[in-house]
Amino acid sequence: MVSDENPAPGVPTTDRVKDIFSLIAPSYDLFNILSSFGIDRLWRRTTVRLARPDHKSVMLDLAAGTGDLTMAFARLGKPASILSTDFVPEMLEVGKPKAAAYRGPTKIAFEVVDAQDLPFDDARFDIVTIGFGVRNLPDRAANFREAHRVLKPGGRYVILEFSRPPMPIVRWFYHLYLRIVIPNLGGLLTGDKPSFQYLNDSIRAFPAQLALASELHTAGFRKVNWHNLTFGVVAVHIAEV
Ligand SMILES: C[S@@+](CC[C@H](N)C(=O)[O-])C[C@H]1O[C@@H](n2cnc3c(N)ncnc32)[C@H](O)[C@@H]1O
Repeated sequence: MVSDENPAPGVPTTDRVKDIFSLIAPSYDLFNILSSFGIDRLWRRTTVRLARPDHKSVMLDLAAGTGDLTMAFARLGKPASILSTDFVPEMLEVGKPKAAAYRGPTKIAFEVVDAQDLPFDDARFDIVTIGFGVRNLPDRAANFREAHRVLKPGGRYVILEFSRPPMPIVRWFYHLYLRIVIPNLGGLLTGDKPSFQYLNDSIRAFPAQLALASELHTAGFRKVNWHNLTFGVVAVHIAEV
């Protein structure tokens, strides 16, 4: 059992995750662009395509942070509505001007919500998404149960997350990159190297594609598949109710 006072490297706890994201909120977008060389935009666009929203889709974005996945859906997928949620208000504040500048058909709203305990009725949404958020949840199983509960029959939970490149040589370079670049770049931008050390550790501690799919099946999703992007550095899991 890991206590909140002294969690093991890479293990998310509510206090640790809230502290990190409230601190790095103002630099988060810049860090994302620099650390992924802008490829994160491509990952988000591909996630929209794989999620297949239509103009009637009612969507929920969990752990939405500064709103980049929410906005990719609004711009490219044009669903009827997206509720963009996170449990760190400072992250959502960075996303609000992006939604204010948006000129399109999708209604975008924001709400402070814990992704492990959703304050919504059963079967309310067509698509639930989470981008680079699942890794930060202390109770992933609770989140999967809740996503399943609030989805309509036939609805989809779409998870964009760092994963495990199947090719050993890619994995080796990727882990080297995580160990050296992420903490140093993050430390440079925010002065808070330990937070980025946690991000590095949490990526390495996260289950690989098949193990995550199996957790989703256990939570009750009837059909689960995944798509590797950039050699499996990230994967998009699609779990159907
Ligand atoms: C790496 S950021 C991802 C933000 C955004 N989805 C993206 O694609 O850039 C992770 C986000 O998860 C949020 N988060 C972590 N645990 C959460 C929880 N239990 N409930 C809601 N949000 C959570 C953090 O506050 C943070 O904004």
